[in-house]
Amino acid sequence: MRLIKSAREIDLMRKAAAVATQAHIRAMQFVEAGKNEYHLEAEIHHEFAMQGAKYPAYSTIVGAGDNACILHYTENNQGLKSGDLVLIDAGCEWQGYASDITRTFPVSGAFSNEQKQLYELVLNAQLAAFNVIKPDNTIKQASDVVIAVITQGLIDLGILKGKLTDNIERQTYRQFYMHGLSHWLGLDVHDVGNYKIDGQDRPLKTGMVLTVEPGIYIAPDADVDSKWCGIGIRIEDNLLITQSGHENLTLAAPKTISDIEALMSKKSG
Ligand code: GLY
Ligand code: MN
Ligand code: MN
Repeated sequence: MRLIKSAREIDLMRKAAAVATQAHIRAMQFVEAGKNEYHLEAEIHHEFAMQGAKYPAYSTIVGAGDNACILHYTENNQGLKSGDLVLIDAGCEWQGYASDITRTFPVSGAFSNEQKQLYELVLNAQLAAFNVIKPDNTIKQASDVVIAVITQGLIDLGILKGKLTDNIERQTYRQFYMHGLSHWLGLDVHDVGNYKIDGQDRPLKTGMVLTVEPGIYIAPDADVDSKWCGIGIRIEDNLLITQSGHENLTLAAPKTISDIEALMSKKSG
């Protein structure tokens, strides 16, 4: 019952997505060097409350700089520095239904070259996954697409060495992309529902809602060219499976480099 949403449930999830989208936009407009991660958390939660979404759907993550590489970082108490990226993973509950959005953007309003290259890679991986998120395909198919795109991209950037197939077989990408791609979303942020049926990956069906959240995290002490170290990026959207494919419920939260930089150049402060 919880896995396939009714029209009424979809309306509620649309609203949860819309409120959280506004909160992410607000954080992008508010950020500046010298502020603290908790100031961004406060902006996000203020927007939730002002729109009537009284509760976050989970502990909000605001990780700037190296902290973006810590997957479940919730201390949210470090200063924001120009030159750093900030990763915000925040969603609200609307009448019990969750949204779960991640956006990553530069404190200064402009991505550096290295940040841009890794960001484009995560975004391309996510868009490649979107191509296969449709009825009768599986999360596993989308995950495999993401692993291939990210691994090839890391090889092209010189962060991984060797052949694509060897790297995939040895799972070398897991140093930099160490979590799953998707989970069911609904009354809980990691909602109920099996991912396999009789040992087989469960096919997607119209009315399911899931996240698609690839990331790349280059630890501060990673054994790679230091120019990449301390960059953590995740992009997370909430997709409703439809007859023709999917609808991205969180599309309005800016995520291309040009859309983010354009929005941030008009910061309201
Ligand atoms: N915010 C929890 C998750 O992305 O799964
Ligand atoms: Mn998620
Ligand atoms: Mn999330």
